[in-house]
This record gives sequence, C-alpha cells and structure tokens, in this order.
Amino acid sequence: MQPRERLIFPLDVPNKTEAERFITLLKDHVGLFKVGLELFVAEGPAFLKFITDTARVEYFLDLKFHDIPATVARACAQIRRGPRLTTVHVDQGPKMLQAMVASLQNGAKVLGVTVLTHLGPDDLEALGIASRYASDPGKLVLLRARLAQAAGCDGVVCAGTEARAVKAACGPEFLVVCPAIRPAWAAVPGDDQQRVMTPYEAIKAGADYIVVGRPIRLAADPAAAARKVVAEIEQGMRDRSCPP
Ligand code: C5P
Repeated sequence: MQPRERLIFPLDVPNKTEAERFITLLKDHVGLFKVGLELFVAEGPAFLKFITDTARVEYFLDLKFHDIPATVARACAQIRRGPRLTTVHVDQGPKMLQAMVASLQNGAKVLGVTVLTHLGPDDLEALGIASRYASDPGKLVLLRARLAQAAGCDGVVCAGTEARAVKAACGPEFLVVCPAIRPAWAAVPGDDQQRVMTPYEAIKAGADYIVVGRPIRLAADPAAAARKVVAEIEQGMRDRSCPP
C-alpha cells in the first residue's frame, strides 16, 4: 500500500456541494473518503450513487450500526453500492456483529467500533463500565477487539494509543483503523477527542489506516495539510519496519 492509501478523509460536511468540493481538492492526496452520519442523513443513498458513479472514488460507509441483529441485518442488506469499509459498534455483542458480517454484500469489510475516542476513564465509569476496564480504556478496547475478531469482523476502529496491543493480540491481518489523529502542527478548536496520537505515532504503532478530519478540513490549504499527513505516514512506515 502506498502511504497515501492509508489516509482516510471523513466527508464531515452538510451537503453534496461541500463534499464534492473536498473530493475534487483531495482525491489525489488521500486513499479513501468516509461518508458518515452527517452527510448520509443529509443526502441519503443518492450520495453513494454519486460517489461511485460520478466522483468515482472509493469510500468507507461509516454509519456505526447499533441495533438488534435482525434490524442490523436488514439495514446492511440495503447497502448496494460497494463501500470498501463499514462499521458496527461492538458493545451490543457477537450476535449483532455476526448479523452484520453475514448480511453484507459486495465484499465490504466490517470494522467493529471498540470504544469511541472521545471517551476517557471518567466517561466510561459514568456509563457503568466495570472500573478495571473504565480506568484503562485500552483494556476494554482489547476485549472488544477479540470479540469482534471471533464474530468474523475484518478489523476494528480504535485509538492510535491502542493499535500496537490490538495488532499483537489479533494478528497482522486484522485491520486497525485509527481516528482521533492530531498532527503536532494542527490545532483543532474545541476538540472533543481525548485518546489522540499524531499520524506518525499511530502508523508506527501499527495502524493500517488513519482517519484525519478537522486537521485537514479546517486547514487554510487542505491539500497541503493532507500531503503533510502523508509525509508523516511515510516516515511512520519506515520507522515501523526498522525499529531502533
Ligand atoms: O479528525 P476528526 O476528529 O475531525 O475526525 C472525526 C471523524 O472520525 C468523524 O467522522 C468521526 O465519526 C470519526 N471517528 C470515528 N471513531 C471514533 C472517533 C471518530 O470513526 N472513535
């Protein structure tokens, strides 16, 4: 994989016009565009037709499914325009994950969302997570990664800080996709992410893909910011393959 192919840009924008602007601006600088809740709620499946048939770029459908197995299965069966990656929350258990894996068509890979990266120990404690896991979100991520793997998922979404442990536990083929990426050179006003890492650190720790949104989207020159991220990915890959 080329360094650029490891960079996922989330189209966290309110409409097709804005999405199209970013696709044009970034399609030579990123590997995959992510369609998430904001754009899907605004534009619906018609946008997926646009992204595959008109824009002709590959995409990741990040709807983070979270419902009973039958509902998840029926929703997945409606995904017809081949995304490369899709997501499901791990925390509702193996039956839901298995339903997702079994009902997807077109070879889309299923990623289990382990513990969202805006959550820290206090949030997990408040949610009723046992304190041995709440105090150490990485432990909970690992438990959920193993669960996702056993249910047939192709990989997980976790923080860069957890990438190395997930790869060690689940093996090199199990995909690790990391959001909450914050380059040292980018400031995100009012940031909600907690378990953050730089692109270089996350890739060096074993992430297969990184999701970089606001540091690119809010930059004065998004294409230049994407190129800087790719340079960090390249360095991270180099240092990963020759540890000190
Ligand atoms: O870089 P930024 O924080 O703007 O990227 C946020 C993107 O990453 C959003 O599209 C969000 O849905 C996604 N995300 C995710 N899983 C997390 C945290 C964020 O997929 N645990």
